[in-house]
Amino acid sequence: MIRLAISGAGGRMGKSIIQACHAKPEWSVVAATARPGSPAIGEDAGWLAGVPVLGVEVVDRLAKVQQPFDVLIDFTQPVVTLDNLVYCREHKRRMVIGTTGFTPSQRAEIATAAKETAIVVAPNMSVGVNLCFKLLELAAQAIGAETDIEIIEAHHRNKVDAPSGTALRMGEIVAQALGRDLQDCAVYGRGPGATGKRDRKTIGFETIRAGDIVGDHTVLFAGDGERVEITHKASSRLTFANGALRAASWLKGKQQGLYDMQDVLWKKGSE
Ligand SMILES: NC(=O)c1ccc[n+]([C@@H]2O[C@H](COP(=O)([O-])OP(=O)(O)OC[C@H]3O[C@@H](n4cnc5c(N)ncnc54)[C@H](OP(=O)(O)O)[C@@H]3O)[C@@H](O)[C@H]2O)c1
Repeated sequence: MIRLAISGAGGRMGKSIIQACHAKPEWSVVAATARPGSPAIGEDAGWLAGVPVLGVEVVDRLAKVQQPFDVLIDFTQPVVTLDNLVYCREHKRRMVIGTTGFTPSQRAEIATAAKETAIVVAPNMSVGVNLCFKLLELAAQAIGAETDIEIIEAHHRNKVDAPSGTALRMGEIVAQALGRDLQDCAVYGRGPGATGKRDRKTIGFETIRAGDIVGDHTVLFAGDGERVEITHKASSRLTFANGALRAASWLKGKQQGLYDMQDVLWKKGSE
């Protein structure tokens, strides 16, 4: 039995994770937090997620959690994650971080905390997306230098960061495979007006925000006479939730270290 605390229990991903746990007896949600002042505070975490009552009252900070837990799963906002990081570092709690939109200095803080507790952080927990990451490395090595590379992503209208963490990770993987630095070669959107010719050494990002799209990503390698497109489309948040649970399980027995979903999927866990 793995005891989980869920940060952002009232959010889209928080609810999906509680739903995913409900279907699996080896998981137990023992604690849940929401934003201070949120109507979710004081509610039962199961009721909030539309599954049977769990007997877990949602509180407004981790410090108020009485129950011991093994892993905190955090899909919130960078500042919230960083607050939770302080708690987990101090209390030696493992973390699975799905939140996106970290600045380089926030990422450095996560890496520092991982010297004292075990953390999986990944902008996308879906197994399919992580397979695409592998395919992208291969594609970039084979045809990246002779093609124009564009990354197109689409998400629901409530997403607050852009490009998505997944799109940026895809860009990093492709750039690294080509010996480029994404910070130097990324182009975010084009126009309006005269843009000049495209420089083949750039990697372009295009963002779409519309409706209830769960998450679509395409990396386009466009050459002379042919195009290769690697596409992933998520149709349910349960794919991310199940990936987060897999990561939490993989962390079992690990005392410290910074990991991502590539480690979870392709390196042996300790269980
Ligand atoms: N890695 C992946 O696979 C993956 C997949 C999907 C999403 N994401 C990322 O995960 C994050 C959350 O996405 P989402 O779609 O679930 O967003 P969301 O629905 O807005 O959920 C975030 C939740 O965090 C809550 N929150 C705010 N302050 C808090 C605090 N101090 N303590 C506890 N909870 C707090 C928010 O409450 P209020 O609404 O009351 O402010 C909200 O309920 C985003 O960064 C998103 O990009 C990652």
